[in-house]
Amino acid sequence: MGSVSAPKTDEASAGTAEPAERRDALTLVDRRTGRSYDIPITHGTIRATDLRQIKVGPEDFGLMSYDPAFLNTASCTSRITYIDGDKGILRYRGYPIEQLAEKCTYLEVAYLLLYGELPNRKQHDEWVHNITYHTMIHESLKKLMDAFNYDAHPMGMLIATVAAMSTFYPDARDVHDRKSRTKQTYRLIAKMPTLAAFAYKHSLGMPYVYPDNDLSYTENFLNMLFKMPAAHGYRPNATLVKALDVLFILHADHEQNCGTAVMRSIGSSHADPYSAVAGAAAALYGPLHGGANEEVLRMLQEIGTVSRVPAFIEEVKQGKGEKRLMGFGHRVYKNFDPRATIIKRMADEVFEVTGRNPLLDIALELERIALQDDYFVKRKLYPNVDFYSGLIYQAIGIPTAAFTVLFAIPRTSGWIAQWEELLEDPEEKIARPRQVYLGPGPRDFVPLDRR
Ligand code: CMC
Repeated sequence: MGSVSAPKTDEASAGTAEPAERRDALTLVDRRTGRSYDIPITHGTIRATDLRQIKVGPEDFGLMSYDPAFLNTASCTSRITYIDGDKGILRYRGYPIEQLAEKCTYLEVAYLLLYGELPNRKQHDEWVHNITYHTMIHESLKKLMDAFNYDAHPMGMLIATVAAMSTFYPDARDVHDRKSRTKQTYRLIAKMPTLAAFAYKHSLGMPYVYPDNDLSYTENFLNMLFKMPAAHGYRPNATLVKALDVLFILHADHEQNCGTAVMRSIGSSHADPYSAVAGAAAALYGPLHGGANEEVLRMLQEIGTVSRVPAFIEEVKQGKGEKRLMGFGHRVYKNFDPRATIIKRMADEVFEVTGRNPLLDIALELERIALQDDYFVKRKLYPNVDFYSGLIYQAIGIPTAAFTVLFAIPRTSGWIAQWEELLEDPEEKIARPRQVYLGPGPRDFVPLDRR
């Protein structure tokens, strides 16, 4: 709590040495009352509740900060992911994303996010075993998926079936039991690819391919997507497996973005993790968030040829925010998105196997023109993670509607890590923002026939 002092003259403070506690503090003067307040600064932040002591009278609620869309509000402390948006830095638990993408598997990174350290050999083998042996889904859940219309969006199916999982595992409601939380963690990370692959097979009207415990996490996912029950010998290509694994690593966590904020918000009411992941996935579904990778592909298809790129850029500029260049811009990265840089490099390796995606030329031209155009330069709009990921997914053979599902699979480990951190944080309480009420003052009810 900050300290308050009565109105002060300049002479009163002149010539006195600065006490230590005031050096790490913000001095605010309320011109309405003339009072000044010392608000402590910790880790470059002030506590918003310290503003509440600033009142014009005893009846006053106290000062609040107003921050729609949380542009400058930290809602938690975290030790998981570090981002420096100006320098284009992303680290998980201190490790640079570039090193993790090059040297780790997605499951190692998921372990790191969840438990704070990379696993040693024994921990790794146990972890992989536990994930592998939780990949099957309940047959009734499969029947529930059968009930969706043939053209149901895979994200809608994923959100609904993850939410339904909470009814299959009632033990998940005991969120204060660490053992139960560990079990739900295995289930969620293991079953997300199965749900995603089943949603895809359902959209094609094809039989589901069950998980295969002899395959790695990513191989198994590709196998469930592309293996035909009647055909023998499908083996996912090693380059494509590696590319997908890297994409999973890049998407695993991104600190307090929209979906993660929802995960923490739902988690703060102590709802079970399946309900919270369903909510987080619903937030991810939006075109301004994870849904952007699907929109990028639609945009590139709409542009159609390289020669139409300048006209499209003009339309975006004239649209003044109505029409956006999908896959461009980021709330935090204002220089470059390090994930986009890694993906762009990797795209060449994938296209060597699959053949060049013809939409790549349109994407490269869009990027080239946008990076020189004043409109985008002034607003610091650069390609984000979604700009090139869709081209790789498409080259691998994944249909556009399933792209956001491929974001949700790895983000599940980040969501659970953030949820764990929340539940272990003694400072956390149920999320409950304040509002600034600007509606009508008190008025009397008017009966229907007199309105
Ligand atoms: N194309 C054209 N103009 C844009 C774009 C864009 N992609 N993004 C922002 N702007 C303009 C916007 O119109 C505004 O202009 P003005 O100052 O004249 O009003 C200015 O740039 C600032 O935009 P903002 O909406 O205040 O920025 P924000 O930080 O709130 O939004 C964003 C960030 C990612 C939602 C936004 O850049 C966007 O909509 N991008 C396209 C969608 C996209 O690619 N999303 C994926 C983000 S990365 C993966 C993830 O987080 O899931």
